[in-house]
Amino acid sequence: MRRLLINLVLVSAALPVGAADPAPHPGRKLYVAKCGRCHELYDPAKYSREEWAEWLRKMQRKSRLDTNQIAALQDYADAARARTNAPTR
Ligand code: HEC
Repeated sequence: MRRLLINLVLVSAALPVGAADPAPHPGRKLYVAKCGRCHELYDPAKYSREEWAEWLRKMQRKSRLDTNQIAALQDYADAARARTNAPTR
């Protein structure tokens, strides 16, 4: 059992997961899958937190997402904004 555990750790460490992006945000997958269906993937970093929240409210019904998923997308936008260091308006 212990040996199996060690093997698992070694295998997962060897997998090239996220090689290009060391820490893809969990909301990213959701965003790409659910929000690019009807229009381009707008860059969340280009919107203020309030603007994005407003759009998420409007888009929630269109994309049929639950509150937790919307929260993940708000979090993803926060992370994207922090990454680009956009000034908070
Ligand atoms: C069923 C189609 C559909 C889906 C799915 C959808 N949208 Fe939209 N989205 C639209 C339409 C149509 C507009 C045009 C503006 C409006 O509705 O007022 C829009 C506009 C927007 C805008 C405004 C762009 C701008 O600045 O003019 C943003 C931001 C946006 N969507 C984000 C999202 C996000 C985030 C998701 C996923 C949660 C999403 N959309 C899913 C149809 C969709």
